[in-house]
Amino acid sequence: MDKLLIRGQKRLKGEVVISGAKNAALGILPAALLLSDVCTVENIPNILDIAILRRIMESLGAKFIDIDDYTLRVDATNVSSYVATGEDMHRFRGSYYLMGALLGRFKKAVVTFPGGCNFGSRPIDQHIKGFEALGAKVEIQHGHIKLSANKLTGANIYLDVVSVGATVNIMLAAVKAEGVTTIENAAKEPHIVDIANFLNAMGADIKGAGTDIIRIRGVKELKGNVVHSIIPDMIEAGTYMIAAAATRGDVLVKNVIPKHMESLSAKLVEMNVKIQEYDDSIRVWVKDRLSRANIKTLPYPGFPTDLQPPAAVLLLQAEGISTITESIFDNRFQYIDELKRMGAKARVEGRMAVIEGGSKLTGAPVKALDLRAGAACVLAGCVAEGVTEVSNVSYIDRGYERMVEKLNSLGADIRRVSDSDSA
Ligand code: UD1
Repeated sequence: MDKLLIRGQKRLKGEVVISGAKNAALGILPAALLLSDVCTVENIPNILDIAILRRIMESLGAKFIDIDDYTLRVDATNVSSYVATGEDMHRFRGSYYLMGALLGRFKKAVVTFPGGCNFGSRPIDQHIKGFEALGAKVEIQHGHIKLSANKLTGANIYLDVVSVGATVNIMLAAVKAEGVTTIENAAKEPHIVDIANFLNAMGADIKGAGTDIIRIRGVKELKGNVVHSIIPDMIEAGTYMIAAAATRGDVLVKNVIPKHMESLSAKLVEMNVKIQEYDDSIRVWVKDRLSRANIKTLPYPGFPTDLQPPAAVLLLQAEGISTITESIFDNRFQYIDELKRMGAKARVEGRMAVIEGGSKLTGAPVKALDLRAGAACVLAGCVAEGVTEVSNVSYIDRGYERMVEKLNSLGADIRRVSDSDSA
């Protein structure tokens, strides 16, 4: 497997363009399966998760035409299979959206349990509760989830936990159900709004996406020939904003929606980082010493859990003791041990990481234990003295488009080598 060799202590400077949102694209492409027609999706990120999803959808009978590097025409006219049980399903979390999409289209689905990053138990009980409320029978056998319904009927569903995946999956299954579905305590992430906008453009009737109550009035048919452009990836944008600050650089992060970045921007300002927002870009630079801060992850519009590993690298550059409280996932601090190999002074106390700023990071061999943990290792490598070797790079490829090229264009010194090259 490939490794990254990062020569650190480089201040990142220049401009970086953010790609389309991974987590929106992972919902929008399966949503196209609800349609026996063609649609066009623009601003699709070129990442491994999307390549795998595309392969799965092709195995179901969907056809894809690459209009350009970032635009796909999806033709789901001849999709005939509702069985998605290959190894690919286990390779990423977003494969769970095939449950809602296939159930919505065929009233049945057989899918493999989703995989994805391992940061504790990641149950799907709220997805299942939603499908059952709509009238589906759900059986779990041999690692597969079997869903079937004679008909899907709108229902009131109160989510016991705010779940992005359950909110989207219920939306997908309910779009063509009979009657009205209400999701209460729904997640409010921007990509939920994006997926709802895509479905509405196809003729769905979804109101309230982006608030905690979403109402879906079922429609009989959806219409094709829709063109939809995916929103920018707020987690990728946040990663580059943090990278700029951690390296005491000066970066214009382009193609972002500044409103989506507010929880991070506010935290950066609190830490003495300079922020200038424009219509669709944000400049991030550092002039003064970085102040300590406490971060608590929360569902949107709170501080995103996906940005806490990169944020830890920034807190290591600040003066004093900072804390990160992880309130979404129960085991998302495994990467701290990797950072410790580089000299980080930090400890984990249950759901909290205590981070002592000001200690010097030095290059070391570290592992990308998951997607965002991998981003943290790369950022730490950019800051550290000497050479950092990051292994398990495919995790990073899953969700960051051309991360090495983008960082190198900002002045980082990162080389990708395969195991045989480095031997
Ligand atoms: C999605 C994102 C992931 C992000 C996370 C939180 C995708 C593909 N992944 O993951 O990048 O880190 O949102 O913003 O979009 N939960 C239950 N039962 C359920 C579902 C969730 O208890 O049925 C719990 C989870 O264990 C977690 C919390 O709810 O503690 C939030 O999880 P959820 O929002 O569902 O995350 P994912 O959809 O897995």
